[in-house]
Amino acid sequence: MERLRTPPAMRSWADARRAEGARIGLVPTMGCLHEGHVSLVRVAKETGCSAVAATIFVNPTQFGPGEDFEKYPRDEARDLAMLEAAGVDAVYLPGVKDMYPEGHQTFIEVTGVSRGLCGAARPGHFRGVATVVAKLFLAAKPHVAVFGEKDCQQLAVIRAMTRDLDFGVEIVGAPIVREEDGLAMSSRNAYLSGGDRIAARCLSRGLFRAKDLFGKGERDAGTLVAAAGAAIDGEPLAKLEYAEGRDPVTLAPLSGRADAVTILVAAKVGPTRLIDNITLGN
Ligand code: PAF
Repeated sequence: MERLRTPPAMRSWADARRAEGARIGLVPTMGCLHEGHVSLVRVAKETGCSAVAATIFVNPTQFGPGEDFEKYPRDEARDLAMLEAAGVDAVYLPGVKDMYPEGHQTFIEVTGVSRGLCGAARPGHFRGVATVVAKLFLAAKPHVAVFGEKDCQQLAVIRAMTRDLDFGVEIVGAPIVREEDGLAMSSRNAYLSGGDRIAARCLSRGLFRAKDLFGKGERDAGTLVAAAGAAIDGEPLAKLEYAEGRDPVTLAPLSGRADAVTILVAAKVGPTRLIDNITLGN
């Protein structure tokens, strides 16, 4: 597994693979890897990628003031061992100065779909995500890039950016991977311990409650969303930030009867902000 630390090194690797006729798959991450990330590598291979690159970069521009950029969990040695075991061909690990050298002043802003939900709670977050993902695409020149569906709004932002800027990269969403008790896997789960870890189940519990209702024939988006939100509101250690029903394709707000709906939730459990979602009827 090659380790590449600068944009020119990443570009040379990509150029060489393209010259050999490889189909390049990219799995962007911020490290602190878990089974969910390993599944993204698997999906890249399943979509026919013959050369898979993963990236590990904790991107400062997607963190707001007072957020967890400094304390975001980092463990390069463990991450590299996991990627090697998953069969990744190259890992891109640029430093902050490689990605944002002195004088950097260009950002990408996806407007519509970045608004509301996490975009409202984390101003500037999706501008940072879109900018770094564009830079990763330009360095790694992938044919396919795989992102987790847990970050549902992020996936929609990246799809819009890729389409609007004609990147010619196929964006693939990979299903959420859950712990046995339902908690969606996330690097930030490392912050949870004791009571917070148990309380964190309320997000998936609410979504599964909505799924049950949907299975029994309930189609009112408001009722389904209320069921998801109530599970979080009923957990004393959790503070609901949002529970919303959106169109599964466009992420436009939905109300009234919905034969297909994505329910997105965000909550703070103790000091840890968690998100989760479920799509019903698709
Ligand atoms: O989902 C993530 O880990 C990050 O937001 C991403 C897409 C790697 C951009 O920094």
